[in-house]
Amino acid sequence: MKTFLNIIYWFLIVFAVIQFIPIDRTNKPVDPKVDFVKVYNTPKNVEQLLRTACYDCHANETIYPKYAYVAPISWSIKHHVNKGKNYLNFSVWGNYNRDLKKNMLDMTVNSLKVYSMPMPGYIAQHPEANLSKAERILLENYFEDILKTENY
Ligand code: HEC
Repeated sequence: MKTFLNIIYWFLIVFAVIQFIPIDRTNKPVDPKVDFVKVYNTPKNVEQLLRTACYDCHANETIYPKYAYVAPISWSIKHHVNKGKNYLNFSVWGNYNRDLKKNMLDMTVNSLKVYSMPMPGYIAQHPEANLSKAERILLENYFEDILKTENY
């Protein structure tokens, strides 16, 4: 019993201490000159879907849920947000070169088709990001059109 209480005690201490490890949750400012939706003048319905399903990890407009303030969950969330933005960040789209843009458009269409994005773990916490078939097709067509017209 004593050992058990000791474990609980230390667990609580460690849990309390790790809350003080700072995590940067500030979003970098978005420059409209390079912001994807501004550059392409994206229709509102498409923009809304991107905001709901992709922006938390792929734009400098992350909205952190309450549980993102509790370590160690916060570390895992921050890790995914950083990783997602490293791959693709719609907020700095205009800074990408042509090859990277084409590549990203291809991968975006693919990720929607094979249901790899939004990440399944994210959908579990954000049911509104669970895109319907029709919503996926709307997004796929939008990105495919940009590819077809080579307007990137
Ligand atoms: C919870 C965070 C999160 C959300 C939400 C999210 N992504 Fe991702 N995305 C990632 C991460 C992390 C990666 C890096 C690769 C990996 O771990 O699979 C990634 C990678 C990608 C890539 C790069 C290529 C690839 O497939 O690996 C594309 C394209 C992409 N995401 C598109 C999207 C689109 C489109 C949406 C919305 C429909 C979306 N993502 C929503 C986290 C996210």
